[in-house]
Order: sequence, then C-alpha cells, then structure tokens
Amino acid sequence: MPETASTGARPTILLDCDPGHDDAIAIVVAARHTELVGITTVAGNAPLDSTTHNALVIRDLLGVDVPIHSGAAGPLVGEPKFAGHIHGESGLDGADLPTPSTPLDGTDAVNFIIDMCRSTQELWLVPIGPLTNIALALRTAPDIAHRIAGISLMGGGTFGNRSSTAEFNIWADPEAAHVVFSSGVRIVMAGLDVTHQFTATPDRIAAIRSTGGLLGTTLADLLTFFSAKYGELHDDGALIGGAIHDPLAVMALSHPHLFERVARHVVVETRGEYTRGMTVIDQRKVTGRQTPNCEVLTSVDAAAAFDVVLEAITHFTAPD
Ligand code: RIB
Ligand code: CA
Repeated sequence: MPETASTGARPTILLDCDPGHDDAIAIVVAARHTELVGITTVAGNAPLDSTTHNALVIRDLLGVDVPIHSGAAGPLVGEPKFAGHIHGESGLDGADLPTPSTPLDGTDAVNFIIDMCRSTQELWLVPIGPLTNIALALRTAPDIAHRIAGISLMGGGTFGNRSSTAEFNIWADPEAAHVVFSSGVRIVMAGLDVTHQFTATPDRIAAIRSTGGLLGTTLADLLTFFSAKYGELHDDGALIGGAIHDPLAVMALSHPHLFERVARHVVVETRGEYTRGMTVIDQRKVTGRQTPNCEVLTSVDAAAAFDVVLEAITHFTAPD
C-alpha cells in the first residue's frame, strides 16, 4: 500500500483552526483524506477576523465545499495572544493571496460544533489552535463528550515554544485546555515532541513548488516565509525548516500507521508562575503512575507524512 494511502475508512472530522501556515497544510490534508464536515475558526496565530479570512482563502484555493463558521475571538480568561512573530500580522504572511470569493457560513462555531457532534456518527474533533471553541462546546453541551469518537489535537508537549514549558495552543488558553483534557473524551495529542520531527525543509518546499499550480506556488511561498521565521528564532541546526505541526493531528487519524504513540496521563497547569499552559505528562515508569487519559504521539515517519502532504497538494492542483 503506498504510504500516501489512508488506512481504510476515512475518518469523519471537524477541523477547528487558526490559520496559520501549518493550519493551511492541515486543511489540505483533511480535505483530501477525511470526511471534512466543517471548519471552525478561533483566534490564535492572528485575530479571529484574520484566521477566518485565511480559512476562506484556503478553501477557495482548494475549491472544496466545506462550511466554515467563525468562533471565539479570545480565550476563556484574559486577553487574546497572537503569534505574529511566526505567522506575520495577517496570520498567513509570505504569499500573494486571492480575495475570498465564497462567504462565511456562520459566526457561531460553538453551536455548529454542538450540532455536528449530535448529528454525526463517529465524529472526531480536530482542534489545531487554542481550544476555546472546543471547551465552550463541551461546557454548553456536556452530552457531546460521549457522542464523539474523540479529539485529535495539536498542542502541548514535554517542552514549550511560547515559554520553556508551554506550547502556544495550550498557552493561549490554558483554562480551555484544562476543560478538554479533563473531559473524559478520548484524546490523541500531537505535541511538539512529534511535530518538531516534521519540518518544511528546503527540498520539501521545492517539491511543493514543483507541483506547479497556484496552490503549490502559494503554499511554497507561505512555507518559505514560515521557515525563515523559524530560522530567526532557533539556533543554527536546531530545526531545518519550520515545524509543520498541524497536519499531524489530522494524519494521526487518517494515517495512524505513520506514528508511534504511548498512553499517558496529561493535565494542564493553569496557575504556575513559570508553568501556566504546560501539559504535565506523567512519564514515570512506576506502577503508581496516574491512569492515562491521552494517547501521546511520540514519533512520525516524516518522509512518508510529507508524501501524504505532497500527494494531497497535487490532487487539488488543477491541470494546466
Ligand atoms: O505551537 C504550534 C501551534 O501554534 C500550531 O497549531 C500553530 O499553527 C500555532 O497555532
Ligand atoms: Ca494552528
């Protein structure tokens, strides 16, 4: 079976995102390899109006008919925090982007999420930004916790990127992350430990550009910008290219054979002076360790995962 093939049934997912360069790649993979019932947007990499605009742009570039609903403009507690230092002020800097030609489908992501959880069999929620929309949906409609198949999220890790201990998606709304990790729902976690294994190297960006269409050129330009920002922020050689975090939360469901995972107990620190937003992962090899509540991805076959991304881009590239 070619590595790009998904394994059997296509997962049915709702993608909650804050596009975001790596979110854009996740949308491409989700549109190709899942039954994508909807996209919801949240403030994160950029303000909500920007992440929503960017999601509309990516949908147009793919030419797919997936509803997009905007959601929370900020975290459950405190003020919104953005990541312009990585994604630029627009949240998707680095390329000439078309103006969206299709309208937003709604501005109440939380009730859209609730409705889809109640009406869709075996639905996976795939949040790849701050968890605000997901937490609000779980709080508003606790019944969805036992209706959905699970939550496959990008976030957390044994180290941070917005602080030494906290990864951005968790750091931006720790209270929301606590709601999700304490919900009892099956959770798959693509944290920095695995996402830093999957980077936009120059060769991979060149391969994306060589797909030839507007989509490939745009994504190659975006990843070039994204990787340059990563290079500015990391020691030489620490990472070769920007970490393409978000599509791994999708591929964990569509291509599970590409990953190794371990069961771990994970809680979110919401009060620590130096650790607020940290995912505290119990890695102890002791019989008294806490009962796991999360499947933590520990490794990915990066070459095969990139083949999945490249094939998806090619699939959506209109013939000349
Ligand atoms: O820390 C990486 C995460 O934060 C990714 O989801 C990226 O898009 C940003 O949202
Ligand atoms: Ca994201």
